[in-house]
Parts: sequence; C-alpha cells; structure tokens
Amino acid sequence: MKKHIVVIAGDGIGQEVTTVGKQVLDRIAEKFGHEFTYDEALIGHAAIEATGNPLPEETVTKSKQSDAILFGAVGHPKYDNDPSAKVRPEQGLLGIRKALGLYANLRPIKLFDELLHSSSIKPEFLQGADILFFRELTGDVYFGEKGRKDDGNTAYDLMIYSRYEVERIAVKAFDAAMTRRKKLCSVDKANVLESSRLWREVVQEVAKRYPEVEVEHQFIDAAAMLLIKDPRRFDVVVTGNLFGDILTDEASQIAGSMGMLASASVGDTTGLYEPIHGSAHDITGKGVANPLASVLSAALMLDISFGMKAEAEAVVDAVDQVLKAGFRTRDIADANTPKDLILGTEAMGKQLLSKL
Ligand code: IPM
Ligand code: MG
Repeated sequence: MKKHIVVIAGDGIGQEVTTVGKQVLDRIAEKFGHEFTYDEALIGHAAIEATGNPLPEETVTKSKQSDAILFGAVGHPKYDNDPSAKVRPEQGLLGIRKALGLYANLRPIKLFDELLHSSSIKPEFLQGADILFFRELTGDVYFGEKGRKDDGNTAYDLMIYSRYEVERIAVKAFDAAMTRRKKLCSVDKANVLESSRLWREVVQEVAKRYPEVEVEHQFIDAAAMLLIKDPRRFDVVVTGNLFGDILTDEASQIAGSMGMLASASVGDTTGLYEPIHGSAHDITGKGVANPLASVLSAALMLDISFGMKAEAEAVVDAVDQVLKAGFRTRDIADANTPKDLILGTEAMGKQLLSKL
C-alpha cells in the first residue's frame, strides 16, 4: 500500500522521538512491501519562532492532504510561567485537533509484563491491567467560551457539551467495548455539573443499543481513586476532554511511565498519532528521551488509519522483545537495571530496528 504521512515533530523531545517513530515506519514499509512517503510541518513553539503562528495554515493543509500524522509534542517552558502570553504553543495542538475534527482520543493503557516493577503501584494490583480510554477531544472547557471580566479580576472557561458530541464519542467507545471485555465505564461529575448530566443521559441512551455491554457510571473523583486502587476493574473508559486529560496522565503510571503511552486522535478525517507525554524540555537534546510512546503511536497509525494489523503487531512485538532483552530508557529503568542496558533514544531505536 502507498501512504503519505506528515511528521509534525513540534517542540522539545518531539523531534528526537518522532525520528525513531519514522525509522520504525520505514522498516515496516520495507518488510511488508509498502511505500510510505513523508512530509514535515511546523507546530507549537517551533512554528511561533518561524512564522509567529503556532498553527500555520500550511500545516493544516498538509495534514488534511495526508493519510496520517505522526505527531511529537508541543510546549515551551518560557510560556508556562507567563500566564499573560497571548500566543502559546498549545494553541497549535488544540487548533489542529479542531481543524481536523479529531474528536476521539484513544489512549490504550497496556502494561508490558517486563515493566511490572517500574510502576509505583504494587505489581499484584497491576498485573493484567488493560484499559482503553476514549477521551473526548474537541469540546468541554478546552473549547468553551473563555474570558475575563471585572477589569480582568474574574476569569471563566465554559464547560459545554452538546448531545451530538457526547453521542459520537460514546458510540466509538461502545463499539470498542464490543471487541474487548464488553465493559464500559463512563466518567463524569453528574452530581454537580449540568454538562455531566447531559453526558450521562446521552451515554445511557446509547447504552440501550449495546445490551451486551455492562455499563457503569463513575464520578471523576471516585474514578481517579479506583484507577489506582484497582486498575483491573476497568476495560473501556469514556470521558470528557478535561477529565480525560487528567485521568490518562494518572493512568500512565499503570504502564510504568508517561514515556510508554501512545494515543490516536481520530474523527472525520486524517488521524493524528501522538505520545501522551509533553515536550519535556528538561531532557531535550540530551538524547535520553524514551521513543517507545512515539513508536507505539506509529503502531496505532498502522492499525487504525491503515488497517495494517500484522504490521502494527510486529511493532508492538518488537517493543516487547526489546524490553524482554532487558533494554530500558532512563525513565523505565530501576535500581536493578544494569548500566549497560540503559539506552538513549537513538540506541533504543537501533535495538527496535534490529528486532524488526
Ligand atoms: C495532552 C496534553 C495537551 C492537552 C496539552 C499539551 C494542550 O496535555 O495531549 O494530554 O491538554 O490536551
Ligand atoms: Mg495531557
């Protein structure tokens, strides 16, 4: 198959990790007889520096014309402590999600056996945990009206959801539950928020179309607690944009590290594949970033956007083999990892390629 991929490396470690993601895609193309062509585009701080705009029009155009997007990260510490900055790298990411209609963010939490001991959660509570999050990605406080009043002394971000927005993400989550353990947990704050009461109402309606799926509703506070207490009780979790952002960072600890978690953002058009981790400026340029989240994002691309199941499995399998061989990046190493098995970004990439 011929596929055209846009690589949007973005900021910080984005460049280093997508380089490895792309190498893996290339190896897959070679091995399975596909032809992948690439283009690059700017976003975030890198785009602000070059054009003044965190999401240049060209990036949107190139993305729309591609078959899939391999995304790195956005962000720069310069803006984090400057709340007054009007132009911010994150606007690039939010803007592309909106421009491409990427309303469903899939974040699979899969624990590789080898990393059972890298998590700060006790292994006996973790083993076998396998959760698929569906985070709604183009609504909520992220995109609701925001502003200041009273001479700037009062600020607001509107939490807003419409029926169709809840319905379409719920349908995707239920469809996925049907292919898994047929359990779905919807997370909201319906005891307090009107938008959550609409959320729950719509999920209950959609549930009627899936009588085989066992449905539960949890409040966000309780869900955050249960996720750590007993991660194995969850199969598919569906939730709004903000709750999903927070819960999936928490859930990354089930997989051992933020550096392991991939995500797929899909909707009506081209899918975007990105690690859930950020730009990590503290380690940028040091060559120590974990590229596995980018590699696993590439695997999601192969599976979801290209329908290449065997190819995707080959990638996940290579990650598994590298971990089984004992190789670790710094973030997933522990006190017992021999020094010579702790690899940098590039060396980890080489190990993966050798397994492929
Ligand atoms: C994520 C990130 C983004 C988000 C930031 C960088 C805007 O945290 O993808 O989870 O909040 O969605
Ligand atoms: Mg986040």
